[in-house]
Amino acid sequence: MTNTPRPATKPVRPHFSSGPCAKPPGWSADRLATASLGRSHRSKLGKGRITYSMDLTREILRVPDTHRIGIVPGSDTGAVEMALWSLLGARPITMVAWESFGEGWVTDVVKQLKLDATVVKAPYGELPDLSQIDQDSDVTFTWNGTTSGVRVPNGDWIKDDRKGLMIADATSACFAQDLPWDKLDVVTFSWQKALGGEGAHGVLILGPRAVERLESYVPAWPLPKIFRMTKGGKLIEGIFKGDTINTPSLLAIEDYIFALEWAKSLGGLTGLIGRADANAAALDAWVQKTPWIEHLALDAASRSNTSVCLKFASEAVAGLDEDAQLALVKKMASLLEAEDAAYDVAGYRDAPPGLRIWCGATVDTTDIEQLGPWLDWAWAQARA
Ligand SMILES: Cc1ncc(COP(=O)(O)O)c(C=O)c1O
Repeated sequence: MTNTPRPATKPVRPHFSSGPCAKPPGWSADRLATASLGRSHRSKLGKGRITYSMDLTREILRVPDTHRIGIVPGSDTGAVEMALWSLLGARPITMVAWESFGEGWVTDVVKQLKLDATVVKAPYGELPDLSQIDQDSDVTFTWNGTTSGVRVPNGDWIKDDRKGLMIADATSACFAQDLPWDKLDVVTFSWQKALGGEGAHGVLILGPRAVERLESYVPAWPLPKIFRMTKGGKLIEGIFKGDTINTPSLLAIEDYIFALEWAKSLGGLTGLIGRADANAAALDAWVQKTPWIEHLALDAASRSNTSVCLKFASEAVAGLDEDAQLALVKKMASLLEAEDAAYDVAGYRDAPPGLRIWCGATVDTTDIEQLGPWLDWAWAQARA
């Protein structure tokens, strides 16, 4: 037995997964509009709902008219792959990675496309030296590293006169962090992250320089239909006007619209960022007073406000190897789940052992505040 009491109250919504993330507060399946279901996605109604979701996306993310927005197959991975396979090969390439997803894109480019790329890496918890990146090459990076909780702090390091394209996987940044659209040529995300939408589709946002590349460069390798964005050397504009490449889930789109309308009711991006920041601050307040845990992200300036990753303090796990620490994580996560106090808080499988708590806007700050004592309890139980 331990001296850490079982807390008397629980988070109202114990949903702290880093994807699919918590639904927006007040969500319920019967609040979704359903008139488009069972209809063609090419019907006036179906296409209207697709375009409405993209118009709301533009409004809330403040995407300028210079950038096109399209729904694509295969979730965020689909959107990133589509960009990499369609755009790369024309110029030198730099792949920047500091956690698992960024590393996945490195593998894609180096091992699958077999392209010669400069790989810039940093270990978990750190950010590479962004000032060293050659911006005359095409640069691919993850804006918010979901598995390490390290994000780029801003876009100040991105040059206006870069010759290469800036390709940002921003799936756990969009709707929680400010993105400098004029500095980003490609941005991707999926709905199940900061808006708590249903997983299914990716969103691909292309700036004018990316479109120029698509229309002037043909990769040496074949592209499957679901990756193809041009026809006869011209961009297929329809993809960015609601004519999706293949059939989307209209149910997922209605769910996304629900989340977007909720986001709008909060005042849009400012409201969303405010909620994520408040959640991350509430979690940080607990971390600061808790001796057994610390942030995986070393520098507070590049610490995520969505996927907050934590590791055990070295004194707290002295003598325990990685497997023993992973066993602790597993034990804590299953205790918390069995109590319905917190779901899905184990760190990512490839990351150093620890916890990962989603702090995006769909989570309520009061639930983060309630979570701390439960983590203390689970730690004490698991260590006992
Ligand atoms: C940074 C990042 N990139 C890509 C992915 C993969 O996203 P999806 O499952 O939407 O393809 C994730 C999922 O967690 C992610 O966090």
